[in-house]
Order: sequence, then structure tokens, then C-alpha cells
Amino acid sequence: MEAYLLLVVQIQPLVPTKSCSGFNCSIAEYNDYLVNDALRSMNDHIALTWLLMERSTGKIAAYMSLIMDAIKLSFSEKELHHLNYPFRTIPAMKIAKLAVDTYFSGKYKGIGTFMIESAEHLAWACNTDYCACRFLTVDADLEHDEGVIVFYEKNGFLKNSELCNKNRKTISMRKDLYK
Ligand SMILES: CC(C)(COP(=O)(O)OP(=O)(O)OC[C@H]1O[C@@H](n2cnc3c(N)ncnc32)[C@H](O)[C@@H]1OP(=O)(O)O)[C@@H](O)C(=O)NCCC(=O)NCCS
Repeated sequence: MEAYLLLVVQIQPLVPTKSCSGFNCSIAEYNDYLVNDALRSMNDHIALTWLLMERSTGKIAAYMSLIMDAIKLSFSEKELHHLNYPFRTIPAMKIAKLAVDTYFSGKYKGIGTFMIESAEHLAWACNTDYCACRFLTVDADLEHDEGVIVFYEKNGFLKNSELCNKNRKTISMRKDLYK
């Protein structure tokens, strides 16, 4: 982790009073989601959005939306993670949305990685206090950026053998929270 980021940014859940207009990552759909859908999804308990804000300005540098998940693992995938259980479905927490504002990705290196690490901390806390989840998961969005797989692989994610989307607009990936 880029430790200096802790000094310049802070993460907190989206609140109704926070304006998200002006957020600008490279993908219009992700900007639109934050401005128009994130709050409604929170109120409906569909997705919980976290904002990364620059401490000095209060501007939104990045956001992610987290949801509960479960993934199907093959026998060999379970072996890889030392999960000797008869069932295929393993509990997980999913990063349903993740985006970094392009201005801030130029200003601070490693924001996307910081968001993944923040999601891991939240998942660990969930495991300790509330509910088990073994993996962090994501449907890597190849439609908008094929390179995004590299970003997730650099952050310790593996491709799942059971792909979530047969036409390959997204690819299902997982990160073991306990390895
Ligand atoms: C993908 C995204 C979250 C990455 O955020 P970021 O702040 O640029 O990521 P980081 O700086 O932490 O990058 C970590 C590493 O991944 C690499 N990386 C990041 N994005 C990449 C991409 N799109 N393609 C290839 N490599 C990428 C970086 O070069 C860096 O490598 P290094 O450690 O060898 O220098 C950001 O570019 C973004 O918001 N993209 C638009 C929305 C999007 O695609 N979200 C993901 C949907 S699944």
C-alpha cells in the first residue's frame, strides 16, 4: 500500500448530503452510477457505496460499491485454497463497482489498490464481527477496458474457472482474504 495515501485521503460511506457531481473517471457509466444510482441502491440495500475523499478539499477521488456474494469453485480451485468441503459455493464479498477519478489517479499513485485494500479491511471486519466471507470478488469489466484484468491480477485476484459472463464482457475473479 502507498502509506502516504492515509495522510491525504479518507474513506467513508456515501451519505445523502454528499454531492457526487463532478466525479469523472474514464467510463461515463460509472460516473452516472455514482451520481444517479448509488444512493438509491444504498437505500434499497442493493449496494453500499464507499467514497474516498481528499482530506484537504473533500473532493471524491474514488468510490466503490460493496455487496454480498457467493462463488462456485471447482474441485481444483478449492484444493488451491485448502477448502476441503463437499459444497461448491463459498461466501464472498463483491466489489460491484470501483472507479478512480482521472484527475486523482494522476495526482496520487495507487488509489485503486488502496480501494481494494480498504475492501479487504472491511471484509476482515465483517468476518470478525458479523458474517463469514472467504473471498473478495469482482466481475472485471472487459467491455470498457481489457487491461483491467492486469490491475486485479497485480492486486492478487485470480480468474475463476466458472466465468460469470459467457460473452466475456466481464470475467469473474476472486482474491482469498486469508492467504
Ligand atoms: C481500474 C482502476 C480502478 C485502477 O485504479 P488506479 O488508481 O489507476 O490503480 P493503481 O494505481 O492502484 O494501479 C495498480 C497497478 O495496476 C496497474 N493498472 C491499473 N489500471 C490498469 C489498467 N486499466 N490496465 C493495466 N494495468 C493497470 C497500474 O499500472 C499499477 O501497476 P504497477 O503497480 O506495476 O505500477 C482505474 O483506472 C479506474 O477507475 N478505471 C475506470 C473504471 C474501471 O474500469 N473500474 C473497474 C471496473 S471492474
